[in-house]
Amino acid sequence: MGQLDGKVALVTGGGTGIGEAIARRFYDEGASVAICGRRGDVLASTARDIGPDRSRILHGVMDVTEIKQAESFLQSVVERFGGLDILVNNAGIMRFGSLAESTDELWGSMLDTNLLGPWRLMCLALPHLRKRGGGSIVNLSSIAGHKSLPNTGVYCTSKAALNMMSQVAALEWACDNIRVNLIAPGLVEDTELADPIFGPEGVPEFYAKLRALHPLGRSGTPLDVADAALFLASEQSSWTTGVMLPLDGGRHLATNRPAL
Ligand SMILES: NC(=O)c1ccc[n+]([C@@H]2O[C@H](COP(=O)([O-])OP(=O)(O)OC[C@H]3O[C@@H](n4cnc5c(N)ncnc54)[C@H](OP(=O)(O)O)[C@@H]3O)[C@@H](O)[C@H]2O)c1
Repeated sequence: MGQLDGKVALVTGGGTGIGEAIARRFYDEGASVAICGRRGDVLASTARDIGPDRSRILHGVMDVTEIKQAESFLQSVVERFGGLDILVNNAGIMRFGSLAESTDELWGSMLDTNLLGPWRLMCLALPHLRKRGGGSIVNLSSIAGHKSLPNTGVYCTSKAALNMMSQVAALEWACDNIRVNLIAPGLVEDTELADPIFGPEGVPEFYAKLRALHPLGRSGTPLDVADAALFLASEQSSWTTGVMLPLDGGRHLATNRPAL
């Protein structure tokens, strides 16, 4: 018996990295899973790999910054699977740059994707979750949402705002038995998040520098995050809402500076 037998989950950005691992973990626990993102070829390939039961997998192109696309994809999920129980707002982008050098365009695209994207999906999902008598929303934040990091100010701000928005939603929707929680990972390898900044060839060097900042001695894997998402999506956490779970090998406890 799976922990998510009979449940329907939508995972944004489910074609790669953390989202892919969450979709796979939910599928393995019995859920029907819908994944979306902007690249149809990537999604199709991931959907093929998730598992053999095609009746429990749906993929579609959907940009979280486009409300019409979000409405239409959500509708196709509900029509195909008969409802919605779990929403994972995982899609996100990261860019570097000092605050002084940040542009309106950078602020606009980061907030549109990392903050307003989850807001749109949460609001669109709300009536469907209510119809099922409740549900679980899991939003992907970051250590950058609660620890200030240099040259990442716009990303930090987008995730900090996501934390607050999610906690307000947890309070407002608790009466509907809809739980809203956040996962705040430290460095998670094997994803594409840093590719636009360093290029795939520069990423290993970036990772190597960051690994040492995690007191448990390693960076995270997408599966580490998927396990936490499963807990927050399942009945195991039925009395948990409004929580931001730091998932970072203890990095939030430590300073970024080397020990003296
Ligand atoms: N990796 C880390 O170290 C780390 C640490 C803390 C938090 N996080 C958070 O974890 C989440 C997943 O990141 P990841 O590391 O797995 O990176 P990733 O592999 O780049 O995954 C991000 C996914 O989001 C999708 N996406 C981006 N913009 C989108 C949009 N406008 N509409 C729909 N989908 C969009 C991308 O697919 P398309 O390009 O095809 O749209 C991609 O599949 C992000 O929210 C990130 O901020 C990651």
